[in-house]
Amino acid sequence: MALVTVNRLCKEYSGHVGLAVNNVSFTVTDGEFMVLLGPSGCGKTSVLRMIAGLERITSGDLLLNGRRINDVPAKDRDMAMVFQSYALYPHMDVYSNLAFGLRRRGIPKDEIDRRVMTAAGKLAIAPYLTRRPAALSGGQRQRVALGRAIVREPQVFLFDEPLSNLDAVVRLTTRNEIIKQQKELGTTTIYVTHDQVEAMTMGHRICIMNQGEVVQIGHPLDVYRNPTDVFVARFLGNPRMNLFKAHVTHESGDLVLHFAGNNLKLPPQDQPGLDKYTGCPVLAGVRPEDFYEIEPAALQGRLARLPAEVIAVELLGAEALLRLVLPNSEEEAVARVGRDTKLRTGDTVMIGVDISALHLFDSSTNKAIPCFNRS
Ligand SMILES: Nc1ncnc2c1ncn2[C@@H]1O[C@H](COP(=O)(O)OP(=O)(O)OP(=O)(O)O)[C@@H](O)[C@H]1O
Ligand SMILES: [Mg+2]
Repeated sequence: MALVTVNRLCKEYSGHVGLAVNNVSFTVTDGEFMVLLGPSGCGKTSVLRMIAGLERITSGDLLLNGRRINDVPAKDRDMAMVFQSYALYPHMDVYSNLAFGLRRRGIPKDEIDRRVMTAAGKLAIAPYLTRRPAALSGGQRQRVALGRAIVREPQVFLFDEPLSNLDAVVRLTTRNEIIKQQKELGTTTIYVTHDQVEAMTMGHRICIMNQGEVVQIGHPLDVYRNPTDVFVARFLGNPRMNLFKAHVTHESGDLVLHFAGNNLKLPPQDQPGLDKYTGCPVLAGVRPEDFYEIEPAALQGRLARLPAEVIAVELLGAEALLRLVLPNSEEEAVARVGRDTKLRTGDTVMIGVDISALHLFDSSTNKAIPCFNRS
């Protein structure tokens, strides 16, 4: 049983202006896989290292199962950390790398052997037990680093971008390995990444950080569907969400949203949330997959049409991306459409947008405007 509570954690480094970590709070429940996600420099590693005990906590509380452990040394925290750089002992073979921490703790030889052989079997590194790290591939090294964490049977796993140095194929297999092991062992896990695909596929929940602060915490799909602000909306999703300048007017008792050359009468249930934005500038967000070249039967009556000029077509095999210029928009928009699109550069098109999938943001605060009920 391991419950990790981070309460108003701050980190100040000498030589770094302002707080690198600013009032970060979250709870990771027993057996949960929590991902810390955010752009480079947002403070993810700093949070993880404070949890591990490798970095002093400037202020705030760190609790393990309700007990404050701010001042407990790293070695007594019963947490195992896996680093991007593997951090294996180069002069020891794989067996000794796996066994080292256990030997130091005086665990009996038989028990060490049992744990090492079990982990090596699970991670398919048994054939390499007598090799040194230098004679292993990156993926094999990272599996050894993972094995070293597993054999400790810690209360908490901490991962800091463990897959960043691996090529795409090995990355995928190692990612699946981590998911599988975590599920089998049920160990509470905190996993740092700036890769949104890892976050979406691995995390039970994700905690999105920006500039030292937590911006949003939630189930990956909930966050994707209901981003709390423009930052999260554009950080999650590739290609990123398209944004259009928009405004709302009252017309004969209805609210109308004007954006990208379209005047869209809003459904009555969405009007209360938007009423106060009448006359104010807002931002309308459309994910690339919510554009439609051809109206699917399931969306009949829910599509708005926007005039667009196709400035490029990227045929990616499984799908196609259209780069579009729409009226009144400063940046080009991207639409993800079927691979058999007939559209070509220079064409004009009335591109469909799923109205129920629109996102609206307050232009002055960049916060999401609650409307367009989504599950
Ligand atoms: N030892 C240090 N001394 C001074 N500043 C530091 C130190 N470590 C980190 N920082 C600063 O703190 C901020 C957060 O760094 P941190 O390494 O936690 O970010 P990160 O989210 O892990 O980034 P990345 O994705 O690039 O690994 C950065 O601005 C960084 O320059
Ligand atoms: Mg980092």
